[in-house]
Amino acid sequence: MAMAMSCFYIVVTNILVILSPLCLAHGGYLYPQFYDRSCPKAQQIVKSVVAKAVAREARMAASLLRLHFHDCFVMGCDASLLLDSSGTIISEKLSNSNRNSARGFEVIDEIKSALEEECPNTVSCADILALTARDSTVLAGGPSWEVPLGRRDSRSASLSGSNNNIPAPNNTFQTILTKFKLQGLDIVDLVALSGAHTIGNARCTSFRQRLYNQSGNGQPDCTLDQFYAALLRTRCPRSGGDQNLFFLDYVSPTKFDSSYYNNLLAHKGLLNSDQVLANLQNQPSPQIVKTYAYNSEIFFQQFAKSMVKMGNISPLTGFRGEIRKNCRKVNSQ
Ligand code: HEM
Repeated sequence: MAMAMSCFYIVVTNILVILSPLCLAHGGYLYPQFYDRSCPKAQQIVKSVVAKAVAREARMAASLLRLHFHDCFVMGCDASLLLDSSGTIISEKLSNSNRNSARGFEVIDEIKSALEEECPNTVSCADILALTARDSTVLAGGPSWEVPLGRRDSRSASLSGSNNNIPAPNNTFQTILTKFKLQGLDIVDLVALSGAHTIGNARCTSFRQRLYNQSGNGQPDCTLDQFYAALLRTRCPRSGGDQNLFFLDYVSPTKFDSSYYNNLLAHKGLLNSDQVLANLQNQPSPQIVKTYAYNSEIFFQQFAKSMVKMGNISPLTGFRGEIRKNCRKVNSQ
């Protein structure tokens, strides 16, 4: 009897082990071991291509991290951002925040080709973006975290979603917070995730307004350190030079650290949306900024937590969506 019971137990356990990925993924639940059986080398492959790309150009870590954000805020983390225009699809790459700005798509292509060679039709482009964001953060010196996996890829894109949902640098704080709340993220997530601006660049067109005519009155932004503003004006003239780049964190532009928050305390945040976090009254954000500025460990822990939370925005799981063969197009049109 005992023997029969233990056999029964083993059979049931095995069935559960085999079925659990299907059931859990279908239930909308992502988990880090998703590819452990189907593509054991997946994470290693992603990491090695990202490492090569960042070694070629340090800024690439920033560009790849940003792609995951711009994907997740539009219909969830479903790689809709990666689709090129074709047939019925108008690419999100054409939106106000992505046009002439979002970059790193060739690196995602390289990762996808390597994964298709290793285990065809298995690893989604949406999961590639999530892994790439984590690997880029680590390579730049930031925190690591386990990435829940099992997302599938959308068969459509939303240009209007991209235009409306992704915060713009001149949005008011309330608008930005509302855009985060619509995605299930709160003010702590907002302040921590904005810390991604510890790496990477912005174009003159994203911050010019602060240098010459904040609030449309022709006066420069009084919340910006005036020596820093003078330096920025050399890179960003009153007209022209729209694509000129400047570091989001001028102190350590390729290092993921807490100097972004120290810059805000010194009135040297590059974007209006950055500086406002430290200057608001009657909001908890200035206190959070101080905490992260003084203690990078607390920032790192919260950043990792908030990235996982962002990565969980409305994933397609189970039988929804597809695993694209090429991240730039749906499998059949
Ligand atoms: C809070 C609202 C946010 C606003 C208004 C905002 C806005 C911007 C803008 C305007 C740029 C420069 C784009 C350009 O001029 O080409 C930028 C760059 C960047 N953003 Fe954000 N962002 C926000 C949140 C985030 C979040 C949540 C992340 C990631 C978790 C992120 C990651 C980055 C990175 C890494 C760059 C540099 C990219 C590169 O150098 O290629 N941003 N952001």
